[in-house]
Amino acid sequence: MNTAALADYRRYPLTSPLSAVQVLPDRVQVRWADDRLSPFHHQWLRDNCPCAQCVYSVTREQLVEIIDVPEDLDCLAARIDSQGCLCLDWSDGHQSRFDPGWLRAHAYDRQSREERRTNKAQSQLWDSHLQLPVFDYQSLMDDPKALLQWLLALRDIGLTQVRGAPTEPGSLALIARRIAFIRESNFGVLFNVQSKADADSNAYTAFNLPLHSDLPTRELQPGLQFLHCLVNDAEGGESIFVDGFAIAQALRHEDPDAFRALCEIPVEFRNKDRHSDYRCLAPIIALNALGDVAEIRMANFLRGPFDTTEQQMPRLYRAYRRFIALTREARFRVIRRLDPGQLWCFDNRRTLHARNAFDPASGARHFQGCYIDRDELLSRILVLQR
Ligand code: OGA
Ligand code: ZN
Ligand code: ZN
Repeated sequence: MNTAALADYRRYPLTSPLSAVQVLPDRVQVRWADDRLSPFHHQWLRDNCPCAQCVYSVTREQLVEIIDVPEDLDCLAARIDSQGCLCLDWSDGHQSRFDPGWLRAHAYDRQSREERRTNKAQSQLWDSHLQLPVFDYQSLMDDPKALLQWLLALRDIGLTQVRGAPTEPGSLALIARRIAFIRESNFGVLFNVQSKADADSNAYTAFNLPLHSDLPTRELQPGLQFLHCLVNDAEGGESIFVDGFAIAQALRHEDPDAFRALCEIPVEFRNKDRHSDYRCLAPIIALNALGDVAEIRMANFLRGPFDTTEQQMPRLYRAYRRFIALTREARFRVIRRLDPGQLWCFDNRRTLHARNAFDPASGARHFQGCYIDRDELLSRILVLQR
């Protein structure tokens, strides 16, 4: 009998021990010490067997495919061993042993699934009254606990400021790499936000930039965006942020048809210069499988002409105007000026950002930026929480 009970790097604390087990024709039903009953189908248990034959111990990845197990697999015996693990003997001679903490964390009785849904991290919507989460650069570099707090704020609030950073060009990469590797784009690993004569984006002028997400022109918009202030002697150029999820929620409430139009009708975003030509056709508001707002894609200065039916065109314009009108309402806007050594880090697929026009004649302004994908943020959080 093999003894593997867990095929994971995470730990699953025992919330309630197993107290009894009963074998039924197609499933095993366990009772927990807190009296919860959880069914586990034979196929499910065999599919998730963590033994060394079923999971390669080095990678902790599955070897077995359920199709190679008899469909009418039967459970001949079930017991709880002295360490509290669930042990099963199968009709094909295989044996499985499950860690009770893992089993409870993956139980799919109604109550357990409900519990997982409510415990899942929720986006905390904000408006102009946001208590801006501010973090200290050196603490983030030195202290994994501070780093985790920052990453959780990015995940759940989607807008943070870091103070006390160096002002040397390139230093942004040091703090970005505390999270993960940087996502390069045609604008570079780090991009320089400066007013330039040969600008390849409106971002590299002194114009105001309306509320937008970066790279809506890509199938996958970057998850995190950094904007690091190196020099800010110019008049104007304040940063503005809105919670795109809060705006989508307000639109859903105040004008459901406009909300639906922005979820349903795809819009093209374009980023073209002499050497590249990126285009992405997608709706402005993306919903997840549960119908919750999962992403905002928006940059008026990167938008192509609307291409929809004669009937839908007026509906799309009405919805688009409503959305932009909401982003201009003071109740949603957070406005701050960034000083040298400070940086913004925010969820680029949720928090829209903007810049007021600045006057390059009044002084220099130099920001550097970069991107990291959302998967990297979420993975880093889970590893830090281990
Ligand atoms: C950008 C941008 C903001 C700023 O470069 O995409 O939004 O404050 N810049 O210059
Ligand atoms: Zn096995
Ligand atoms: Zn931008």
